[in-house]
Amino acid sequence: MSDNSKLYEGKAKILYRTGDPEILLADFKDDATAFNAQKRGSIQNKGIINCSISSKLFEQLEANGIKTHYIDSPAPNQMRVKAVKILPIEVVVRNIAAGSLCQQTGLTLGTVLAKPLVEFYYKNDELGDPLLTPDRLQLMKLATEEQVDSITHLALKINKFLQGFWQQCNITLVDFKLEFGLDSQQQLLLADEISPDTCRLWDIAQDDPNLRVMDKDRFRRDLGNIENAYQEVLQRVLKV
Ligand code: TMP
Repeated sequence: MSDNSKLYEGKAKILYRTGDPEILLADFKDDATAFNAQKRGSIQNKGIINCSISSKLFEQLEANGIKTHYIDSPAPNQMRVKAVKILPIEVVVRNIAAGSLCQQTGLTLGTVLAKPLVEFYYKNDELGDPLLTPDRLQLMKLATEEQVDSITHLALKINKFLQGFWQQCNITLVDFKLEFGLDSQQQLLLADEISPDTCRLWDIAQDDPNLRVMDKDRFRRDLGNIENAYQEVLQRVLKV
């Protein structure tokens, strides 16, 4: 008998077991959280939108030689994925200063960085996802030095691909967050999702600092028109 029971419920997705222990089903929810779940809400059709965008990006990344957990999308808000053990690290790549980088460094919002910045944060809501140093990564045994090197290399390669992809959508990729996992063979795979929840995306055609925002900052900062922005991102992605 196959066991399709719930394995884990996160803030944005529910993971179900399938008949195959190597495969899980991810169900993308409309629930939205920000600031380590201190702010909660819902974005209409977000599950379908984020799953559709992520599916397309994972397919294209695979075609460009990046190994991901993605298998296929059996329903608009569902993704079949390879079962992985997620590393408790949030890998953030930044091309333009925004968000916590501005808050913590004083850099002006919108400053173009001379080269992409790759940062590691400890994935732990209770501790507020703190920024990690290389020594803290080793101290906490969150990843081996070899894994950190591989992740950094992959993150920069993914950034190059995504910058080009979003440019074709007339969107500037400001920054984004990635998660990686290890499969049963200890192979490092890109996991989680890539969507307006996990990227800062600015409309190239808009100069206004609020009107240009097409991502979860609309929810975080109560900018309104959240559903419209997510839908617009999906429509542009589907045209590429
Ligand atoms: P930050 O500027 O708040 O550190 O966020 C950097 C990027 O990472 C931004 O695109 C949003 C994304 N992000 C997540 O996907 N999840 C998170 O928990 C956080 C804090 C940021």
